[in-house]
Amino acid sequence: MEKFLTNIKYSTSDTKVLLVLLLTAAAANAQSFHAGGCPKPPVQEDFNITKYMGTWYEIEKLPAWFERGRCNQATYELQEDETVGVLNAEILPNGNINSIKGVAKVKNVTQPAILGVSFFIGAADAPYWVLATDYQSYALVYSCSHYLGLFHVDYAWILARTRALPEAVVCQLHDKLKNAGVDIKNLTASNQTSCDERK
Ligand SMILES: *[C@@H]1O[C@H](CO)[C@@H](O)[C@H](O)[C@H]1NC(C)=O
Ligand SMILES: *[C@@H]1O[C@H](CO)[C@@H](O)[C@H](O)[C@H]1NC(C)=O
Ligand SMILES: *[C@@H]1O[C@H](CO)[C@@H](O)[C@H](O)[C@H]1NC(C)=O
Ligand SMILES: *[C@@H]1O[C@H](CO)[C@@H](O)[C@H](O)[C@H]1NC(C)=O
Repeated sequence: MEKFLTNIKYSTSDTKVLLVLLLTAAAANAQSFHAGGCPKPPVQEDFNITKYMGTWYEIEKLPAWFERGRCNQATYELQEDETVGVLNAEILPNGNINSIKGVAKVKNVTQPAILGVSFFIGAADAPYWVLATDYQSYALVYSCSHYLGLFHVDYAWILARTRALPEAVVCQLHDKLKNAGVDIKNLTASNQTSCDERK
């Protein structure tokens, strides 16, 4: 599915079949897909990637088919070549830990808060935009891909340095997304309870 989603824009033949397949896949996986192009939200000014490194816990998200568990967290580590090592982890319903490694890169040094992240060798990278962060408590991340010039699929994550965030901060981040034209109806709270005691 990830490969399918990321590679579809390179396909030139039989657009209609692909579109139907993709819409079906998106609907089946309850993704947030919408007609038209991606919103272009402002990103965090003077983003300092060094301060952003370390562990972040997922507080809320738009539905993401590739996340199936609870206690979702991401750990970022700056590498010597200035890319970012990514380790995403979650606890699956059966109690096992599911983790995946990836690499993120700043696309253009003039816009350091706009990164691309890739989890599969050879796959196109997915956008990773840091819309807001204070580095020490919260972060708001947005990812939107535009397909075939017709529609877009987007993801958003509210992250925190701890497993909970004050409601007021969450509300401010909702407002940021709304003001940028992102549909936040389907934002859901992530389960960050009983994370240290595995079954
Ligand atoms: C929200 O989720 C519902 C149920 O999965 C889905 O039918 C709807 O299209 C989603 N809305 C948006 C804006 O993504
Ligand atoms: C980014 O943050 C690091 C760690 O706090 C600091 O050493 C560095 O000077 C900052 N970079 C800029 C450009 O402010
Ligand atoms: C980076 O962004 C600047 C300013 O928008 C642009 O002029 C430049 O061409 C970009 N560089 C690359 C490698 O895309
Ligand atoms: C979160 O997960 C724990 C452990 O599986 C469970 O006991 C709890 O009911 C869940 N909370 C919610 C709100 O789903």
